Amino acid sequence: YSSLKVLGIETSCDDTAVAVVTSDRAILSSERFTERAIQRKQGGINPSVCAQQHRQNLPILIEKCLKDAGTSPKDLDAVAVTVTPGLVIALKEGISAAISFARKHKLPLIPVHHMRAHALSILLVDDTVRFPFSTLLLSGGHALIAVAESAENFKLYGQSVGGSPGECIDKVARHLGDLGSEFDGVHAGVAVETLASRSSEFGHQRYTISFPSVGKADMNFDQIKGSYLNLLDRIRRTEGVDIPDFCASLQNTVTRHIASKLHAFFDTLDSEKRLPGQLVVGGGVAANKYIFDAVSKLSSAYGVSTVKTPLSLCTDNAEMIAYTGILMHLNRSESIYWRPEDIPDTI
Ligand code: KG4
Ligand code: ZN
Repeated sequence: YSSLKVLGIETSCDDTAVAVVTSDRAILSSERFTERAIQRKQGGINPSVCAQQHRQNLPILIEKCLKDAGTSPKDLDAVAVTVTPGLVIALKEGISAAISFARKHKLPLIPVHHMRAHALSILLVDDTVRFPFSTLLLSGGHALIAVAESAENFKLYGQSVGGSPGECIDKVARHLGDLGSEFDGVHAGVAVETLASRSSEFGHQRYTISFPSVGKADMNFDQIKGSYLNLLDRIRRTEGVDIPDFCASLQNTVTRHIASKLHAFFDTLDSEKRLPGQLVVGGGVAANKYIFDAVSKLSSAYGVSTVKTPLSLCTDNAEMIAYTGILMHLNRSESIYWRPEDIPDTI
C-alpha cells in the first residue's frame, strides 16, 4: 500500500480553491481565493464575475499548491474536480482546468459531487465517524438532510426548496441597516448571532411569522426571508424595530424550522430502526452556536451523537474535493475517467 496524492479543484461558487491531499489524510497544500466581501457588499454573487475570477486564478493557485506540496504533476495519482451542483459557468472553469491538467499529465480525472464532499470532509479530520452517518448541511448555498451510506451512496431525505439559511439571515440582516462597526468584516450571520444574544428570553419569540409549509423534511428559507422583510417594513413604519429582539426572533425561527425538519427525519428513520448513531453537521451556518446547540439537543433525545465539522472545512474548500476523490479512487469507482483518452471535452 502506498499513499495516494490527489489535486483537488473547487469552483462551484465564489471561492477559487485548490489543494493537494493524501490518502493518509495529510493536507499538503491548500489555496483559496475569494472576493466575497466585495461581492456581498454589491448585494450578492455575480456568476460571471466568479467565472472570470476562477479563470484568472486557477493557473496561479494550481502552480502554488504543487510547489507548496513539494510535488510535481507526475507524483500525483489523480485530479478531482467539482462537477455539480453550483453556478454552471463557475463550475465550467474548474472543470476545463482539470480536464487540461489531467490530459497533459496523463492523470485519471475524478468528477466530484460538491454536496457529498461537504458531508465527507469530516473524514479528513475525525476517524471516529463511520458509515452510515446522517448529515445536516447548512450554508449560504444549501440546506439538506441526508444519510451517507458510503462515499458514493447518499440518500437524500430533505432539502431546501427555496433559498438557504445563510442567505436568509444575511439578507434580512442587510435590511436591518448598519449593525455597528464591531461587525465590520464578519459574516452578517455572526452579527445576528451576537445581537441576538443581547436579547431577552422574550425577544426570541417577539417577532413571529407563520412557518413555511413544505413537505416532510424539506425546508424553505426564501419564505422565512420574505416574511421577515415584510414584517420589518411594517414595524419600521409603526412601532420601530428592536434590533436585538429582531435578530433573536429571526434566529429562533430559522432554528425551529431546521429542528422541526430534523425531527421529522429522525422520527422516520427511528421508527424504521435504521437511524445512524452519528449526525455530521457542516456548512458555514453550523458556526452558529444557538442553531448547533438546538440540533445537538434534539439529536441526543434520539441517542444520536452530533459531530461538528471544523470551520475551516465547513466553507467551500478543495481539500474536501480532493479527499472525496481519494475515497472514490480507493473504491475503484466507475465514474472515474481512468485514461486520458476517455476524458470528455466537457463534463
Ligand atoms: O458555508 P459557507 O461559509 O459558504 C457558502 O455558503 O458556501 O456559509 C456562509 C454562510 C453565510 O451566509 C454566513 O452568514 C453564515 O454562513 N454564517 C452564519 C454564522 N457564521 C457564518 N450564520 C449564522 N450564524 C453564524 N454565526
Ligand atoms: Zn458549498
